[in-house]
Amino acid sequence: MSSYIITGGSKLEGTVSISGSKNASLPIIAASILNGGTSKLYNVPNIHDTEITLKILKILGCKTDKKNGKIIIDSSKMNCHEIPDDLMRQMRSSVVLAGAILARFKNVKFSYPGGCDIGARPIDLHLKALKKLGISIEKEAGYVKCKCDEIKGNEIHLDFPSVGATENIILASALAKGETILSNAAMEPEIEDLQNFLNKMGAKVQGAGTNIIRIIGVKSLKEVNYNIMPDRIETGTFLCMAAATSGNLEVKNANSNHIIPVIKKLEEAGCRFNIKKNTILIESSKRLKAVDIKTMPYPGFPTDMQSIFSSMLSTAKGTSIVVENIFENRYRYINELKRMGAKIDIEGRIAIIKGVKKLSNAQVEATDLRGGAALVLAGLVAKGKTKVSNIEYILRGYQDLDQKLNKIGAKIKKQY
Ligand code: UD1
Repeated sequence: MSSYIITGGSKLEGTVSISGSKNASLPIIAASILNGGTSKLYNVPNIHDTEITLKILKILGCKTDKKNGKIIIDSSKMNCHEIPDDLMRQMRSSVVLAGAILARFKNVKFSYPGGCDIGARPIDLHLKALKKLGISIEKEAGYVKCKCDEIKGNEIHLDFPSVGATENIILASALAKGETILSNAAMEPEIEDLQNFLNKMGAKVQGAGTNIIRIIGVKSLKEVNYNIMPDRIETGTFLCMAAATSGNLEVKNANSNHIIPVIKKLEEAGCRFNIKKNTILIESSKRLKAVDIKTMPYPGFPTDMQSIFSSMLSTAKGTSIVVENIFENRYRYINELKRMGAKIDIEGRIAIIKGVKKLSNAQVEATDLRGGAALVLAGLVAKGKTKVSNIEYILRGYQDLDQKLNKIGAKIKKQY
């Protein structure tokens, strides 16, 4: 179990560059198997989750090569359609591989994702949609087996705009017979990135970014080079860290359009912004003011920013109310924050944060990826040395977090 040792109290100042998006990379790496040839992906973040996805592809028979953010995937010799149970358990989002494997082989077997660290994360919407595409589903001894002779386009309405289910439906329909019209689709920018990638391969996907997506199945897809979009949650994380430390930070290689709700709430809290093409400048000179947030599907306030934003609000002036509407168990980090002196009460999906002037150092443990980042933020603000253990969670989703932070004035060391 590795840890970060953070000596708090420094303002974040200078320039930080954002890596490629984790949540766009995973479905795009999955989609790369659809062309039965080579895909070259640029700006892929060097994080644990992309490692695992590539490990799965290798087990499925793909060749992969990785260097400096560039990944080459050759799926021409792919010959296996079973996602190994241990890797499936390490990364539940590997469920998006199911749609891609089905499109290629009309057959997939994977283990049923179990209980989880941030909420139940069921896959009922994925399976209901796959059935609509003519795929038979069998559940047996913890495994899900899906197969069909032919995937047939259909009209699908999602009961909730699930990101993963939307991606799975697009992937499963890309090579299907006929047209799929998906309504109440998730509108996250990562879905638009997946659409752009698939269309560059020759697919016919329209409407991603809106709640109706139309996929006209094509017979085959060609080889492709693609540059992954910047990570909007990493962008938001650095903005909140700068705001919490009263810093002035330039965030490069970012797309401000993807995090409008976060920027607007930071403005409400007292931060100032100067936004240029791919760069966001944030200035935060005074103690922040309390603000209320409610997580919602995109374009609402992202659930992935809830813990980081709440951690920042724990030292704001006044009382903030936070409502978590997406994942019911996303407050586990709060018990750790309380060890550092935060005053937060939880009532179901609501957290009431009474801002304190200072946090104190403590030994805390990351409970999940974004909750871990929230504790790093608290460590940057707290007096003295904070130890955040179990940082394997954080390494799942942030590339070089300690190195990037040290370059902008933080004092953070990794300890093995
Ligand atoms: C994705 C993101 C994750 C982000 C989340 C919400 C990736 C790898 N992960 O996760 O970082 O926090 O979107 O923006 O891109 N649900 C069901 N049945 C289903 C599927 C989902 O009830 O079959 C529910 C979930 O329990 C949850 C909500 O829908 O309450 C949202 O889940 P979903 O959008 O599917 O999240 P993920 O795709 O897992």
